[in-house]
Amino acid sequence: MIKTPHTSLLWRNVTLFDGLRQWDQPVAVLVKDGQVAAIWPEQTLDERMVRNAQIAGQGGVMTPGLVDCHTHLIYAGDRAAEFELRLEGASYEEIARAGGGILSTVRATRAASEEQLLESCRPRLEALMADGVTTVEIKSGYGLTLADELKVLRVARHIGEVFPIRVVTTLLGAHALPPEFVDNADGYVELVCAEMIPAAVAEGLADAVDVFCEGIAFSPEQCERVFRTAHKHGLRVKAHAEQLSNLGGSMLAARYQALSCDHIEYLDEAGVKAMAEAGTTAVLLPGAFHMLRETQLPPVDLLRQYNVPMAVASDANPGTSPICSPTLMANLACTLFRLTPREALSGMTAHAARALGIQTLGRIEVGAPADLCLWNISHPAELAYAVQAGRLRQRVFAGTITHVH
Ligand code: NIG
Ligand code: FE
Repeated sequence: MIKTPHTSLLWRNVTLFDGLRQWDQPVAVLVKDGQVAAIWPEQTLDERMVRNAQIAGQGGVMTPGLVDCHTHLIYAGDRAAEFELRLEGASYEEIARAGGGILSTVRATRAASEEQLLESCRPRLEALMADGVTTVEIKSGYGLTLADELKVLRVARHIGEVFPIRVVTTLLGAHALPPEFVDNADGYVELVCAEMIPAAVAEGLADAVDVFCEGIAFSPEQCERVFRTAHKHGLRVKAHAEQLSNLGGSMLAARYQALSCDHIEYLDEAGVKAMAEAGTTAVLLPGAFHMLRETQLPPVDLLRQYNVPMAVASDANPGTSPICSPTLMANLACTLFRLTPREALSGMTAHAARALGIQTLGRIEVGAPADLCLWNISHPAELAYAVQAGRLRQRVFAGTITHVH
């Protein structure tokens, strides 16, 4: 890592995508004390104002550091055998109902120590960072006991302390019904509400609470109990909703002012309207759509029509999206869901930060944290158009250059 804590850094002549739009002329960007201090059209840069700044880069495309707002990055084991079963015709639901799927990852994750979880997560984390990610959301949900859910969240917090990346944690206790609670889903939801949420809050381990609202997971009524408890403890909520069917999970989540509803392939107009009114962000997960060979498309036109901001995330997880590349997600969001490259890029920056409730991230503006990427490309759309490693010239985290290519 190149340490540049007290120096002002100046980038000259960059094409700027600020998280929402591309500037129409090249700019100079000054970073000071970990923040964006100034942005000038290159033509108007007054050299006297930057006399003491070190030139950090010239040319290229600058974007905010990417925000991966939905991952299940911490787990043990793999699910390659299930991938083969699915290719032979088994469905995701069938595998889950037979005790595979999420529960097979739960068995492996329960058996792993915090150290082992960190080591198995490291290459995935490094892949995200090498592809420009400076903020990552990490969910629990592969522990499903009090101790194992907290274990995963502790590893997530630890990552944020020792790696140059911001980590936002989400408690996803209501991800799947663990074997100890077969035929007693309400009993498990009680454990989530009475023990997991309060303990995670007491240890400062959760920034939000998520649920999986689905036939193979939890009913809207059960999810509502989790939401109510989360609110009682001062935590915002989000939902895996309308992924495999429409149970009205998004409408419910909107009633609890959810930060986001994620997956949403089966979302209908009433749900879109409810999300718009609640200010809930739509998180599109094209990696899971692709891996499950799904054919039901998320209602992108309706989301546009109702001005629901669309985020795009990797959903990195061992079952439905074993993919740690946000730029591949941008490409898939365009090819599979017909997002424009600009929408895909906003989806991985400004709108992704909105899905996490942190509006200062995912933007390049004066006063914002200097989490930046400088890319060896000539137009921002190239990030969504080509899938190619090695284009990230510099990654800047909180004003420090952490990656040089
Ligand atoms: O986001 N939909 C539920 N949860 C994850 C998949 C988890 C798994 O299969 O391990 C998802 O797709
Ligand atoms: Fe997910």
